[in-house]
Amino acid sequence: MSDGDIDPDALTEVLAGLSLPQKTLSPKFFYDAHGSALFEEIMRLPEYYPTRTELGILRQHGPEIGRAIGPDAVIVEFGAGNVEKIRLLLDVLEQPRAFVPIDISGDHLNEAAAALDAAYPGLTVLPVTGDFTKPLALPEHPVLQGARLTGFFPGSTIGNFLPDEAEAFLATARAVLRGGDLLIGVDLVKDERVLHAAYNDAAGVTAAFNLNMLTHLNRLVRADFDPDRFEHRAFYNAELGRIEMHLVSTLGQIVQVDGQVFAFTAGETIHTECSHKYTLAGFAAMSAKAGWRTARTWCDAKSWFSLHLLTPA
Ligand SMILES: C[S@@+](CC[C@H](N)C(=O)[O-])C[C@H]1O[C@@H](n2cnc3c(N)ncnc32)[C@H](O)[C@@H]1O
Repeated sequence: MSDGDIDPDALTEVLAGLSLPQKTLSPKFFYDAHGSALFEEIMRLPEYYPTRTELGILRQHGPEIGRAIGPDAVIVEFGAGNVEKIRLLLDVLEQPRAFVPIDISGDHLNEAAAALDAAYPGLTVLPVTGDFTKPLALPEHPVLQGARLTGFFPGSTIGNFLPDEAEAFLATARAVLRGGDLLIGVDLVKDERVLHAAYNDAAGVTAAFNLNMLTHLNRLVRADFDPDRFEHRAFYNAELGRIEMHLVSTLGQIVQVDGQVFAFTAGETIHTECSHKYTLAGFAAMSAKAGWRTARTWCDAKSWFSLHLLTPA
């Protein structure tokens, strides 16, 4: 897509989302290059426990996880981001063959994949820029022909889906992985204060990340959002077991998206992200509905975060 062109699929989605009674935009629109860089900053924040907790589980149980995945692995990572976590896996796997990172944020992905390629000379790295909520073809590469695939979906990105979407994603992933296993990171229900702090950091990085969606959409779908007229809001919705992020319109205003007009009242919000928190039993039940059996589960000492090795039922 050249500068000035509009992404037609994104436009359709954005227009539909802003037409809902509760205006809603998909969290995938956070991720242009700047959004990906801001998410990297979030991962280093003292309040943002998920990244360091999941990395801790991978470090502590790495050898066991490596053995469970087995030799000659071909890893397909959904929403790979800066491909940091896969390094821990690659270091414990016996002769991993190939790595296929999938991400919607193409420039960021290609840069991270090139660095990984240089660091692991024996590994074939095949980055795929794409939307993992849509039908997605893996590259036609000899190393993937007939290979046993293992999925990797860390970061509790699964929590960004509504429960029925999460189940649908798990079913799609089962088809993409052609009978292979899936190693998936899932954030767990915990003290609301810990959750609240993680999405309302003192340095305001999560606020900047949330507001960056508007700047991204201004380019992606020719909108005219003024980020100074919106504010970040994140809170735990205990009834639905999820953090919700919203952008709050600070005044009555009109916004145009590719010429279509949307009115906001003062205080009206756009819902930009859900981050569902699961119990171990709740997640196992949802995976089972999507055709997976939980082979292994690993947690940190506080049971804040979990890694599950799912195998086709
Ligand atoms: C919460 S971050 C997790 C990043 C990394 N996997 C980790 O665990 O640190 C979500 C990642 O998924 C990507 N992403 C979000 N929605 C996506 C979609 N629909 N299709 C493909 N990638 C997506 C984002 O660009 C981002 O890199």
